[in-house]
Amino acid sequence: MAKMWAGRTDGQVEKIADDFNSSIRFDSRMYRQDITGSMAHAAMLAAKNIITQADADALIAGLEQILADIDSGALPIDMECEDIHMFVEQVLTQRLGDVGKKLHTARSRNDQVALDIRMYLRDEIDQLSQLVKALIDALVNKAEVYADTIMPGYTHLQRAQPITFGHHLMAYAMMLLRDMERLADCRKRMNRSPIGCCALAGTTYDTDRRMEAQQLGFEDICLNSLDGVSDRDFCVELMSDLSVLMVHLSRFSEEIILWASWEFQFVELSDAYTTGSSIMPQKKNPDMAELVRGKSGRVFGDLMALLTTLKGLPLAYNKDMQEDKEGVFDAVDTVKMCLQVFTPMIATMTAKTENMKRAAQKGFINATDLADYLVKKGLPFRSAYKISGQLVALCIKENTVLEELPLETYRQYSHLFQEDLYRDIDLVTCVEKRISEGGTSTASVKAQIAWVREFLK
Ligand code: ARG
Repeated sequence: MAKMWAGRTDGQVEKIADDFNSSIRFDSRMYRQDITGSMAHAAMLAAKNIITQADADALIAGLEQILADIDSGALPIDMECEDIHMFVEQVLTQRLGDVGKKLHTARSRNDQVALDIRMYLRDEIDQLSQLVKALIDALVNKAEVYADTIMPGYTHLQRAQPITFGHHLMAYAMMLLRDMERLADCRKRMNRSPIGCCALAGTTYDTDRRMEAQQLGFEDICLNSLDGVSDRDFCVELMSDLSVLMVHLSRFSEEIILWASWEFQFVELSDAYTTGSSIMPQKKNPDMAELVRGKSGRVFGDLMALLTTLKGLPLAYNKDMQEDKEGVFDAVDTVKMCLQVFTPMIATMTAKTENMKRAAQKGFINATDLADYLVKKGLPFRSAYKISGQLVALCIKENTVLEELPLETYRQYSHLFQEDLYRDIDLVTCVEKRISEGGTSTASVKAQIAWVREFLK
């Protein structure tokens, strides 16, 4: 069939070229946005006397019917069409005759597609934010349960200082909160309407771009028509925000995988979020966490692909830009799927608090506190640090721990040591003393929880 754009050429394209050129396989998911945008366009055309009100009414009713028919399945989307914009217009013209041909006045597919993607992604951002929020809620609830559960805190994956599990979980809540802020910020810049930029230069018709923008819920319009049709920054921005989010989920996944290992045994994942092995009957694998960690690569890849596609494009629209959609849709779909499985996995995860505590009891995790004890008694920190280090070396040599060294031994290293040192190096004291804002004490964790809950209100 000849193309709707048959003009200079006869519109007959080789099948292989046509398939190559077509985007309907992946842009049909924007049918709702495309139709909604067209309804606003028809209303504006009538308001500005570019078409009659009767024509606009017919167009809008026709578009409404197409939307209802696609929704109900009565109108299957024809994959032989070039893209969703052409499909809708073609059906409209089939159904309305010549009136249908008036819809594309003062518009181009270039501003139309830019509009559709913005509207589509705007809705996706709202869903993504809700999903991130649900994960933060789950984390905060977990952190509350484990606000005073002692575990080793690590640097270099070496036991460093005791912390609470609640504190560790809240670290991820803070990261995800920033992700929500980033999404909101991205949405703000995305929320400007390109419709009315037309092919590239604007139009000779007396249109009202702001009326259309307002009807479609945009905060403003793109003020330069060349920029309006060639801007895909909002896709790049969204994918970079999603990449950062995936970094967070991937780091968290890595920890969950470690914690669920036989070596750590810090957490137990619900059976519902693990898998078995087809050959090793003892296995319980953290596949969900591994897949989330793995899928981060694909989201970063989507971002890189679009950056690369865009970097050499002259203004304004180029067909290369059709490559924006598959990547950005994939990134959005992937992150949504990850969040949908990650949140219940976290909500059903339990901590093996005894194991966490036992791990914190070894490894001289209270050596800093021993040094701080001497500082409190008047010794400069560097000297105290040295003595504490010597005592750790002694313990390692004698195969014991700081808690079990007799006071006489301590006093051979410094006369400042007294009986009360044992209380100061007790793990509970070590944790609960860290009351500095943002520190690991139970009180501080509870303050963080309250702050996040307030923030999310
Ligand atoms: N399918 C195209 C895309 O996704 C729509 C815009 C086509 N514009 C054009 N001048 N060929 O980018």
